Amino acid sequence: LGRSPQALQLTLALIKPDAVAHPLILEAVHQQILSNKFLIVRMRELLWRKEDCQRFYHEHEGRFFYQRLVEFMASGPIRAYILAHKDAIQLWRTLMGPTRVFRARHVAPDSIRGSFGLTDTRNTTHGSDSVSSASREIAAFFPDFSQQRWYEEEEPRLR
Ligand code: PPS
Repeated sequence: LGRSPQALQLTLALIKPDAVAHPLILEAVHQQILSNKFLIVRMRELLWRKEDCQRFYHEHEGRFFYQRLVEFMASGPIRAYILAHKDAIQLWRTLMGPTRVFRARHVAPDSIRGSFGLTDTRNTTHGSDSVSSASREIAAFFPDFSQQRWYEEEEPRLR
């Protein structure tokens, strides 16, 4: 009685070129999103330019895998989602499993990366790691989407 429903949180989820190129894997990842009761707020498929990848992954600039990561992410179509859930950021990261594929296979073999990841670069998916990175990453992929308006007008109706 008198308990207000918990607010919804937004996250950015990406399906990377290795998974988009494979219809069965693409469908399996999409089904994970649906069966875990995420609300798909926006979804688009796009081909990223190398400069967009460089900007998106600038925090990794200088690391040995940076060039490989940027080139891979621009190598074919990707799918981007804005997902809403009470625990969107953490839930999506748990479903993805660990970044490194060796670890994913051993620690979380049923996770998305544990099931479908090929290498530490070709690891099927990306997810925002904090509220502030979710906000930045959503704006990068969906510049016309007003997060403020969504939280003010739509989120209260959707809870
Ligand atoms: S780290 O090491 O904790 O900073 O890793 P993380 O921030 O989780 O993600 C690093 C992203 O770079 C991609 N990538 C690699 N990470 C680690 N090691 C190697 N060799 C590597 N190669 C590529 C990795 O897939 C992460 O991409 P995103 O899209 O962020 O998941």
